[in-house]
Amino acid sequence: MSLLEMKNIVKCFGPVKALDGVSIRLEKGEILSLCGENGSGKSTLVKVLCGIYPHGEFEGTITYNGENIQPKSIADTEALGIAIIHQELTLVKELSILENLFLGAELTKYGLLDFELMHYEAELLLKKVKLSVSPETKVEDLGVGQQQLVEIAKALSKNAKLLVLDEPTAPLTESETDILLELVKDLRSSGVSCIYISHKLGEVKAISDQICVIRDGTHIGTRKAAEMSTDDIITMMVGREMKQLFPKEPHDIGEVVLEAKNINAWDKANSSIPKVRNASFILRQGEILGVSGLVGAGRTELMECLYGCYQGKHNGTFYLNGEVLSCSSSRDALNAGIAMVPEDRKRHGIVPIMGVGQNISLAGIDQFQSLGFLDESAEANAIDDSIKKLTVKTPNAEIAIKNLSGGNQQKAILARFLMINPSVLILDEPTRGIDVGAKYEIYKLMFQLVKKGISIIMISSELPEVLGISDRVLVMHEGRIKGDLINENLSQEIVMDCALSEGEVA
Ligand SMILES: Nc1ncnc2c1ncn2[C@@H]1O[C@H](COP(=O)(O)OP(=O)(O)OP(=O)(O)O)[C@@H](O)[C@H]1O
Ligand SMILES: [Mg+2]
Repeated sequence: MSLLEMKNIVKCFGPVKALDGVSIRLEKGEILSLCGENGSGKSTLVKVLCGIYPHGEFEGTITYNGENIQPKSIADTEALGIAIIHQELTLVKELSILENLFLGAELTKYGLLDFELMHYEAELLLKKVKLSVSPETKVEDLGVGQQQLVEIAKALSKNAKLLVLDEPTAPLTESETDILLELVKDLRSSGVSCIYISHKLGEVKAISDQICVIRDGTHIGTRKAAEMSTDDIITMMVGREMKQLFPKEPHDIGEVVLEAKNINAWDKANSSIPKVRNASFILRQGEILGVSGLVGAGRTELMECLYGCYQGKHNGTFYLNGEVLSCSSSRDALNAGIAMVPEDRKRHGIVPIMGVGQNISLAGIDQFQSLGFLDESAEANAIDDSIKKLTVKTPNAEIAIKNLSGGNQQKAILARFLMINPSVLILDEPTRGIDVGAKYEIYKLMFQLVKKGISIIMISSELPEVLGISDRVLVMHEGRIKGDLINENLSQEIVMDCALSEGEVA
């Protein structure tokens, strides 16, 4: 008997058919991955399973442990041992780990809160997820990866038999990812089943027993992971063979447009910790400059200094077209023709309840205004154009952006910054959480931009991506620029060696 069977699930949002008859089956102690492009219906399927979309709001049946279940809420499915960890973290940041673990399920003795017992249980749970911090630590003092582990500990505290992870590793560093994947495998050995969603296909292949591919809400196929290559997964996802992941196009590179000289920056909270150390670099017109390095190398801080939005102490000089550039806000930077698409698009990017279109035109609204009037039709045309160009999957431009799938929200934010026609565009992890097909579209768009003479700085932790599309690569490590390499015959090994080498670029 299978642990779980979902049969012919159909789920609509108004006119949008997010799921059109999807079926999956999961055995005890098995890991099933869901793969599909942005907006294909992965998150919707697991939300149906977890009672977030209650019984009655979808068609089809769910059998769990041989019984037909009709959950009305997430509490119903938690009681059955099904736990979901969402694309967005849901911990209360101001509370401690312990308080989060037992929130709403506090342990009591004689009607009083039993702190000793909770502390003991919390320590056991933290040990299970290999997190060596005190249960009294505030969640906001933890890194994203550690918070993710607390989420899992919380699920385990509820005796989860089936764990659902929706893109758990998108914000994690490589070592945090390894810890998480090991943990999921350990749980499998102890009989816990898992539904896993990720756009990192290498990871998916390594961890799964079965892989199920969904496209446009329909079930394309489920196969044994061992029998599939990542190319097979991609072909099933996009419905055609993708011969090339990086559509590199020849383009002219001109004079130096931007120069950074001796940039230093210190930690926002503790100004004695250096984050960027004496970094200098140049950027030429029409160039794609890749900035590689591990998470924490100081890449984002360096670019935030340029963009005028770094919150901590910093110094050094930037020159734009030979003139000193001093931006004390991102507004200044935008006026100077510099745009930056932030890494954490959820936090710094979207206005959730505003329409997709409004979110897109937010920064570029000035260009549609004259004499105090807004040219609404020009704005609407530009919005439609962006939606098409970036293939943002949305029923219309008016729907609140929070209703779009995670990846499509990201594309909309990217569209926003492209609308202001910058001369220097900084992209911080532009393809995180974005599916392979859409990545390809974004790269193609980047080449269109550099052909128009725009210069691009791309921070990316994905080395294949950095090597696949950059003209030149800056390698950062612990705040220093360790390498400035022309991207000819570069390999991942050369870049890694350079990051860890002694010395630095003069
Ligand atoms: N609350 C909602 N209201 C309207 N439409 C929705 C809502 N939630 C999801 N959709 C739509 O349903 C489709 C499937 O979305 P879903 O979030 O399941 O995609 P996904 O496969 O998880 O994508 P991603 O990889 O980007 O996270 C999308 O077209 C999305 O816009
Ligand atoms: Mg999703």
